[in-house]
Amino acid sequence: MRIDVVSIFPEYLAPLELSLIGKARQDGLLDLRVHDLRDFTTDRHRTVDDTPYGGGAGMVMKPEPWAQALAAVADVSAEQPAAAGSAVAPRPVLIVPSPAGERFTQAAAQELAEEDRLVFACGRYEGIDERVMEWAQEHFTVRPMSLGDYVLNGGEVAVLAMVEAVGRLLPGVVGNPESLVEESHSDGLLEYPVYTKPSSWRDREVPAVLLSGNHGKIAQWRRHEQYRRTAERRPDLLAEFDAGKLPRADRTAFADLGYDVVDGRLRRRPDTAGEQN
Ligand code: ADE
Repeated sequence: MRIDVVSIFPEYLAPLELSLIGKARQDGLLDLRVHDLRDFTTDRHRTVDDTPYGGGAGMVMKPEPWAQALAAVADVSAEQPAAAGSAVAPRPVLIVPSPAGERFTQAAAQELAEEDRLVFACGRYEGIDERVMEWAQEHFTVRPMSLGDYVLNGGEVAVLAMVEAVGRLLPGVVGNPESLVEESHSDGLLEYPVYTKPSSWRDREVPAVLLSGNHGKIAQWRRHEQYRRTAERRPDLLAEFDAGKLPRADRTAFADLGYDVVDGRLRRRPDTAGEQN
């Protein structure tokens, strides 16, 4: 996969030289290139922003440097629209990190990991002139994406997270692909708790079932721990969970957590605690 990142702070992306993603780049599994937006300006001050039309606080990123940068990176013309029917190669996906984007999830990471080319446009200040998004639709599949409902100072930190989430799904990047199967969100649930040696630490014991050697029991305990954790921390995830084919012991585990299975979906039993007769 090839990934291009355009930013006014290319140094911000230096951590992508480390660890698994850095190794994937060295091994040729990931061709990641970082570009300085200011290299695509034409004025002496290398200006990338200006005041917003309509007034208001902050600055807006100018459209022309972005069009020049994205066109250079994607090897398209900044002036001409793509000729009809000329799309031989699939369009790169242009990801624009923004708190106003669609939510970046594990499912989105999996989708993006199937692409040949991703381009990330890191906005700063109040954002990028909206006309860039219109222009970009002629050359890219444009996806504004948000890490979550909070505001960062710019897209760079979001790109670090998204590139890591996508990069680790590429074939060969994670040494043991099985570890991708059992982690949080891969099955719509949070991960079960994990323990290592010693079995007794500061008077705290590892749950006995994990020392039992009974693999069926261990698998069931882990699944039920996933249910318990998800119900406690992320009940919103349970609404999407496919409970249609759960074995009876799992239905009982959910019943103990206050959930019934109705038409293959989990339904929270109304809380009767404290109710007056
Ligand atoms: N840029 C600023 N805030 C962001 C967020 N929450 N997600 C992605 N990009 C952002």
